[in-house]
Amino acid sequence: MRHHGFSSEALIETLHTIQSTFGYLDLEALRFVAGNLRLPLSRVYGVATFYNFFTMKPQGEHVCVVCLGTACYIKGSPDVLEAIERFSHLTPGETTPDKKVSLVIARCLGTCGLAPVATFDGELAGKIEPMQATGKIEEWLNFEH
Ligand code: FES
Repeated sequence: MRHHGFSSEALIETLHTIQSTFGYLDLEALRFVAGNLRLPLSRVYGVATFYNFFTMKPQGEHVCVVCLGTACYIKGSPDVLEAIERFSHLTPGETTPDKKVSLVIARCLGTCGLAPVATFDGELAGKIEPMQATGKIEEWLNFEH
């Protein structure tokens, strides 16, 4: 927020930073942002709940984000998502009961040239095939500490 001179333009970037630091957004964080950017809480809440890449729920130990933006959609990301859903019994926004894996969807991860794209704990996987994606989820689910 300081980087952007506490301007309201910084809202989305600020929410991104909070989410990547803490894994999710909560009401306390939204209040803090609203106060500092001098924006109504309703506006901050509206933005945080409008975009699929923001989550108000604590995430699992591992997070898979599947891009459903236009380029990825055309190149087959719905098949990737469906394979993950079938394999993990998760729908987007959900976390497995053991809190190991969360599934999230995004509207464009900014790497359309590599479509279809997904990220696994923030690591980008381009031109991903459904089998590769479920393989990664399987690794996470079977990994014992
Ligand atoms: S649409 Fe998926 S990265 Fe842009």
